[in-house]
Amino acid sequence: MNDPRALAARALAEVALRGASLREVQARTAPALADPRDRALLAALLHEGARYWLRYDALLARLLERPLRTRLPALHALLILGLVQIERMRLPEYAAVAATVEAARVLGHGHQSGLINAVLRRFLRERAALTAALDADAVTRHALPRWLLDALAHDWPESAGSVLATINVEAPPTLRVNRRRADRDAIIAALAGAGHAAHAHPWLRDAVQLDASTDVTRLPGWAEGTIAVQDGAAQIAADLLDVTPGLRVLDACAAPGGKACHLLERADLDLLALDREPERLARVAANLERLGLTATLRAGDASQPGTWWDGRAFDRILLDAPCSATGVLRRQPDVRLHRRATDIPTLAQTQRALLDALWPLLAPGGRLLYATCSLLRAENGSVAAAFAAAHADAEGVPIVLPAGRADGPGWQILPGEDGLDGMYYAAFVKRAGNGRVR
Ligand SMILES: C[S@@+](CC[C@H](N)C(=O)[O-])C[C@H]1O[C@@H](n2cnc3c(N)ncnc32)[C@H](O)[C@@H]1O
Repeated sequence: MNDPRALAARALAEVALRGASLREVQARTAPALADPRDRALLAALLHEGARYWLRYDALLARLLERPLRTRLPALHALLILGLVQIERMRLPEYAAVAATVEAARVLGHGHQSGLINAVLRRFLRERAALTAALDADAVTRHALPRWLLDALAHDWPESAGSVLATINVEAPPTLRVNRRRADRDAIIAALAGAGHAAHAHPWLRDAVQLDASTDVTRLPGWAEGTIAVQDGAAQIAADLLDVTPGLRVLDACAAPGGKACHLLERADLDLLALDREPERLARVAANLERLGLTATLRAGDASQPGTWWDGRAFDRILLDAPCSATGVLRRQPDVRLHRRATDIPTLAQTQRALLDALWPLLAPGGRLLYATCSLLRAENGSVAAAFAAAHADAEGVPIVLPAGRADGPGWQILPGEDGLDGMYYAAFVKRAGNGRVR
C-alpha cells in the first residue's frame, strides 16, 4: 500500500485508539513510501490528526448516526483526517473529499464512499454552526483533555492563555551544532546555501532555529555529524550542568542520548549513559557514532543503583526524569491522547524516588541536575522542593534564564517562550562533609 492518506489513517487509529506512540508508528509506516513528498504528507497528517483528534472526534460524534470508532477504526481515523485536511491543512474541499474516498477504497472500504461523501459534505454545509459549537467548549477548541486544561489554568493562571495559543502551532525543528566538528555561523551559511533559512538562537550557544520544517536527515551536515535535532530548551541542560574535561558524569535516563551527546560535545568526559530500556540504548549508540562521541552505555534501573553502580562517585549527575511530556505537546501531539490525570501523582513518586536513589552517588561538591519536559508543578517545583527539604546536604543552585520563571528551587520554561519547548530544571550541589560546597 502506498497511499499516504490510507497509511496515515491506519497509523492514526493505532495512535488514538490503541495507545501506540506517534513516533514509533510513523517510523514503522514511513518506509512504505518512496517519495519524500508522500512521507512529508504522512508526517503532517499524523501530527495534525493527533493534535486535533479530540476536536474532530467530537465533531464526528455529531455527524455520524452510528459511531465507527470500534467497528471500523481506520475509516473513523480517515474521516478525521478528511476534516483535518479541510480545516487545518486548507486543502480545496473537493480535493479533500475525493482523496478521502480514494484512500477508503485502498483500505478496502470502497463501499463506504457514500457515507464519506455524506459526512464531509454535511460538515461543509453546516460548517459555521458546527465549528462555533466546537469553539464554545475549551476541550474541543484547544483539542486538549479537560484535566490538562484545568491543571494548566491552576498551575500557571497568568500564562495559560499564551501557552494555549502556541501549543497547537507546529514548531520547525531546532538544530544543535556539534561544536567539536563545526562552527555555528558556517552551519547557518551552509543551510542557507541549500535553501534552508535558519538563524542562531539569541541566547543558546549551540542552537540554530530553522524557519521551516524539513527532513533533517537531508540537511547539509547531517551525514557528517555536524548537526543534531534538539529543542533549545533541552540544550540548556549542558549549560546548567557546567561540565569540564575529565569529569565523571552519570546520565541516568539517557536515551535517545540528546543531552548526553551535547555534554560530550562540550567536553571530554567519563560519561555513563544509563537507561532502563535496552532497545532505546541502541539509539544512544547510533547518535554517539554519528556525532563521533564516546560514552559507556549501560542498561539498568536508575532507582536501583545496587544493580549497576561500581561504587565510584560521580562529579555530575543528570536526571532527565520520565515525565508527562506535557511541555513538548507541540512536537509530540499524541501525548494529550495517552496521558491521564491519574498518571501525574505516580510520575511524581517515581521522580522523587529517582532523585533519592541517585543523590548518594554524587561526590561531595558535585552537581545534580533534575530535568523534566513537563509543564506541571506537581512534577517540577513540588518534586524538587520536597527533595531539597529532605536532604540537608543538597544546596539549590539559583537558576535564572532569559525565558521562564522560578518554580520551587528550580526554573520553569513554558512551551512557546522564546520559541522553546516546556522544560523544568533544578540544580543541586552536594555540600562537602564540613558543610561547605567545594
Ligand atoms: C525524557 S527521556 C530522556 C531523554 C534523554 N535524556 C535525551 O536528552 O535524549 C527519559 C528516559 O528515561 C528512561 N527511564 C525511565 N525510567 C527509568 C529508570 N528507572 N531508570 C533508567 N532509565 C529510565 C526511559 O527509558 C527514557 O529513555
